[in-house]
Amino acid sequence: MKIVTVVGARPQFIKAAAGSRALRREHTEILVHTGQHYDPNMSDIFFEEMGIPRPDYNLGIAGGSHGEMTGRMLIELEKVLQKEKPDALLVYGDTNSTMAAALAAVKLQIPVLHVEAGNRLGTLSNPEEVNRIVTDHCSRLLFAATEDARQKLEREGLGERAYVVGNIMYDSFLHFAYKPWDPKIVDFDGNPVTVPERFYYMTCHRQENTGTDTPLTEILCAMNSLDAPTIYAVHPRNHDRAARIRDREHLTNVILTQPVGYSDSVHLTQNALKIVTDSGGLQCEAFYAGVQCLFILDYVAWPETMVGNRNQLCKPDRNDILAKLAVKQTIDPDYKPFGDGHAAEKICDILRTVSL
Ligand code: UD1
Ligand code: UDP
Repeated sequence: MKIVTVVGARPQFIKAAAGSRALRREHTEILVHTGQHYDPNMSDIFFEEMGIPRPDYNLGIAGGSHGEMTGRMLIELEKVLQKEKPDALLVYGDTNSTMAAALAAVKLQIPVLHVEAGNRLGTLSNPEEVNRIVTDHCSRLLFAATEDARQKLEREGLGERAYVVGNIMYDSFLHFAYKPWDPKIVDFDGNPVTVPERFYYMTCHRQENTGTDTPLTEILCAMNSLDAPTIYAVHPRNHDRAARIRDREHLTNVILTQPVGYSDSVHLTQNALKIVTDSGGLQCEAFYAGVQCLFILDYVAWPETMVGNRNQLCKPDRNDILAKLAVKQTIDPDYKPFGDGHAAEKICDILRTVSL
């Protein structure tokens, strides 16, 4: 088959690293980068480090309101699909790039394949939830990471198109974890960061936590009071806010860094004392690595991780953060809800047997 894959944001590059490797063994893939993430350390670094094929198209569309960004992507993606005339379109996850591509394809009657289908927080106030629901309902085949996600699809009447394949991010994690680590982490001035022996790893970029000063101040002050430094890999959208809060609150126990590459992120995860994040992907990686996580959001993203205090929901409140960081986790080594790290191959197996 000829398959157009559309990516645009950091977590999709990480998923495409595993997806493209498997797909290209038996299909022709045309890779389209919408341009949603464009800084070298939010985009190029993943293509280089993870061996993702060079995109055939880069649409250069980023910024603006969600509606504007999605609309511009829809217009340009339709042109690409009309020119390439693929047998199918493949998308990952839940970003604006995902939804724009699914809409462009379904309107041209091109079958949509959605990887990481069926995840639901249960609120339309989360922008990614809208993208997930629209994409799933436009899709011909739904590749769910877990049985829970498949059941959610079934409840929405989409069960017949759904297959549980495992989490494709686990494929990438296993490919890059447990390898020698040569950190290339830099601070806001571009100076190398020496990774301390004991540290906490944090990412935090969601509107809910970084749209105003209050939640991020609470989170950073909590981290600053811990028994070891925190390495906070900062998304460019809240670079300035994070620097201002660090200076205003005299935070000397929090190390602000530029976004890190995938190998650095995986190894920071594996070696951290604990992880504090509002990232969907990082909380799963913490789970794979057996490192305890706090998820700073009001909604459960990955119910499978919420066992044995391995991942706890937490408010952006210093007392809540410190109380939950003091809790111990228990791990059942036989509990593996995210598959075996071969999600991409399973997707290819299904594409061989199901007619679109
Ligand atoms: C997007 C995804 C979110 C994911 C996050 C990080 C949607 C709706 N959300 O949110 O699910 O968790 O990516 O992977 O698609 N910016 C830069 N440089 C970049 C990229 C972004 O400076 O390379 C800045 C720009 O000011 C931009 C802002 O960050 O306007 C927000 O970027 P955007 O892509 O709109 O959303 P994210 O917050 O990154
Ligand atoms: N990640 C990374 N560098 C960073 C921060 C995160 O490589 O500076 C990785 C992280 O290990 C995980 C993925 O990016 O694999 C998560 O993506 P992100 O937080 O951007 O999006 P989300 O998971 O919220 O969709």
